[in-house]
Amino acid sequence: MTDRRRISILILDDEARVRSELSEFLMNTGFMVHAEGMPSDALEYLARHPVDIVILDIKLPEMDGLEVLRRIRRDHPITEVIMISGHGDMNTVIEAMRFGAVDYFTKPFRLAEVQNAIERTRRFIELQHRVEELKQGFTLVSAELQERIGHAMVGESHSMRVVADMMRKVAQTEDTSVLITGESGTGKEVVARGIHHLSARKEHYFHSVNCSAIPKDLFESEFFGHTRGAFTGATEAKAGWFEIADQGTLFLDEIVDMDPGLQSKFLRILEAKQVTRVGSTNEKNVDVRIIAATNQDIQQMVKNGRFRIDLFHRLNTFHIHIPPLRDRKEDIPSLFDHFLGLLSAKSRQRPLGVDEKVYEQLLQYDFPGNVRELKNMTERALILAGDGRILPTHLMMPGSAPHVRIALASPEETYDLEVMERRLIIKALHQSQQNKSRAARLLNISWQALDRKLKKFGIRSEEGPDL
Ligand SMILES: Nc1ncnc2c1ncn2[C@@H]1O[C@H](COP(=O)(O)OP(=O)(O)OP(=O)(O)O)[C@@H](O)[C@H]1O
Ligand SMILES: [Mg+2]
Repeated sequence: MTDRRRISILILDDEARVRSELSEFLMNTGFMVHAEGMPSDALEYLARHPVDIVILDIKLPEMDGLEVLRRIRRDHPITEVIMISGHGDMNTVIEAMRFGAVDYFTKPFRLAEVQNAIERTRRFIELQHRVEELKQGFTLVSAELQERIGHAMVGESHSMRVVADMMRKVAQTEDTSVLITGESGTGKEVVARGIHHLSARKEHYFHSVNCSAIPKDLFESEFFGHTRGAFTGATEAKAGWFEIADQGTLFLDEIVDMDPGLQSKFLRILEAKQVTRVGSTNEKNVDVRIIAATNQDIQQMVKNGRFRIDLFHRLNTFHIHIPPLRDRKEDIPSLFDHFLGLLSAKSRQRPLGVDEKVYEQLLQYDFPGNVRELKNMTERALILAGDGRILPTHLMMPGSAPHVRIALASPEETYDLEVMERRLIIKALHQSQQNKSRAARLLNISWQALDRKLKKFGIRSEEGPDL
């Protein structure tokens, strides 16, 4: 349990001996305890102090325990109530549980019984806190994204809840630039798209640009557009990315790969919010939110003079860092389950379940390729498991035992490497709907290597999976 804050308890019993015995025991166990003998005093105390648990006697002066319980449930819905029942009170206890008491113990009480009731209630409270936190933070963002773009963002670690919170806050601004940093595969694009879809710009384009893939001499015409005949090969007028993303979001991936000479030009456009197509003199107003991402240490690059400090400051108005998966391992099981659900819905693969050891293994691994690696690993495990249970060996973890036993579609086992290789390749092709680069990713080999193997085994696409 993460929540270790002290639980506060109020005891309401008219017997002084019960009050003092219970108080002493509970204080020694580490709780904050207050005791009252009269319902009116207890209710007054409750109105002024936050209390997690009330331990409530059934037979009381002024009003009976059930009436006190009713008032507590009405006025303090997050306070939990444990009943103390005397001899022959069983019917009242049952009624109290119906009214929302969480637990009870009987008088004369044994301390172990009291302790058990408190412990159960404490766990219940912690669980509720957790559910509440999740509801407010991550889940809200995730559910909204699920609704808008059809896939949720998954995570339950504290750091991802912070990320979700920042996404929601910055999405509410009009055009604040965002810089997203994090290792490769941590989900930078997921976060960028999320911000766009949570923002008022969601009906307009989210345009993603990979800065490392733009040839230097095409930079201007790509970003700003060009007129017809502006240069050789410009047979048509073309809108640039700023215009395409107008009123939407322009996502600049691998921002540090932008040529230094172009960085200053780019900054000027950001400041002026106006673009001029190459070959034209007309300036056009553009309204875009810029989200930039990098998996490199951009601050170090600024220090080394490899990235312009003024552009850095312009982009860094709002910085979101996504920690690597190894620093938020709590997210691993839910991500694995999420991908499993997603991928098995897409394919016709229905694994029989997941061996508990699979989670153990996943939690021991550091995932240098982060969430992307986990996703690929899940896809591979799904294929290898076939219609059986997913076992740790199906994860094919780097560094794990080399003798992988694979669940085959046919019952007879073989150790013939080439036969196995061929079957796996065909399965991977089938799983990826004959998409060779996806199949290669599943097999964890390069596209070229897959191509060589296809030739070697004489596999044509469309070969059936049931070998
Ligand atoms: N929190 C998450 N919930 C669900 N899927 C996620 C999450 N984070 C990442 N993914 C998935 O993991 C994969 C990698 O994510 P993404 O492409 O956003 O990473 P990246 O940080 O942009 O990586 P790179 O630096 O290599 O471009 C994608 O398939 C994405 O959908
Ligand atoms: Mg990316």
